[in-house]
Amino acid sequence: MKNVGFIGWRGLVGSVLMQRMIEENDFTNIQPVFFSSTQYGQPAPLVNSYQNKLHNSKDLSILKELDIIVTCQGGDYTQEIYPKLRKIGWHGYWIDAASSLRMNNDTIIILDPINKSLIQQGLNKGIKTFVGGNCTVSLMLMALGGLFAHNLVEWVSVATYQAASGGGARHIRELLVQMVQLCDTIAQPLHNPVFSILEIERRFTELTRSGIIMKNNFGVPLVGSLIPWIDKQLESGQSREEWKGQAETNKILNTKKLIPIDGLCVRIGALRCHSQAFTLKLRKNISLAEIEILLDNHNEWVSIIPNDRELSMQELTPSAVTGTLKIPIGRLRKLNIGSEYLSAFTVGDQLLWGAAEPLRRMLHQLLN
Ligand code: HSE
Repeated sequence: MKNVGFIGWRGLVGSVLMQRMIEENDFTNIQPVFFSSTQYGQPAPLVNSYQNKLHNSKDLSILKELDIIVTCQGGDYTQEIYPKLRKIGWHGYWIDAASSLRMNNDTIIILDPINKSLIQQGLNKGIKTFVGGNCTVSLMLMALGGLFAHNLVEWVSVATYQAASGGGARHIRELLVQMVQLCDTIAQPLHNPVFSILEIERRFTELTRSGIIMKNNFGVPLVGSLIPWIDKQLESGQSREEWKGQAETNKILNTKKLIPIDGLCVRIGALRCHSQAFTLKLRKNISLAEIEILLDNHNEWVSIIPNDRELSMQELTPSAVTGTLKIPIGRLRKLNIGSEYLSAFTVGDQLLWGAAEPLRRMLHQLLN
């Protein structure tokens, strides 16, 4: 049995990964070794009726004995430990949720329903480093895979509606605290007919502009609002999140000719589902019925939501998708702009297909 080290398994993505691995009985095929940066020496989780101690996640002498390392600890950890481990001659497989190594030449971005053969070719060539993609990129490819696979996409313009979870656990907590603060401010007037709705709205707006609302992580209030910027600012005028769209998609697809992808990434007050609205320029004019068949047949998780008001409202929302592996895609229609222009809208759980699931499946591919 392979020794597999888990780092950052108690964080947001790590916890979802653990949950999925338990659901799929993945621990029966491996010898797991759990690490911690602060609580080493304490008991590790009980797995396969066997309990060890937590090891120090920075102890290279233990890390270098592992066949595979799966880390959800974040970019700082990767940047500190990964080069040191490789330098002392560790040749094991490194599976990472963080973005630090994604664009390296000797790294493959993993999303096996899209690029399984590229992953396999990489393994055959001796690639040892595999990194999960940016969540919006992975969710977009899961949804639009059928069009990319048939080389039908000339370019994509995207507007994202990204959940708080993309920032991490503290961001979800902060959004929820903001909601509670909001309730504390307006619950009473809301139930008192003396207060007009404009007065209640005024109190709400006053709260969001006051110093009282908690905003240490987002920097500004998110509840009742949105933030039209995610991640760092780049020279190009893009946010780093926007930059990743084209860079990572083309790397995952291993395109010979670059497919231009650009748009605006926006944080909204959903908890863990990212939504995305696309305008696509197709390479040729094919019928909507053909497009739906190609999309639907691409993988077992994607499903077509007919462009119908009621169905879109019921099935194409974060509320409907959260906590599932479902990738619904809908609002499919040819735009007034021309018959080669298509609109689409998709929703996906940012912590499942957007983060933990590709890592879990990579581990599976390695073990098989
Ligand atoms: N950067 C993403 C976000 C997280 O902030 O929503 C997933 O890669």
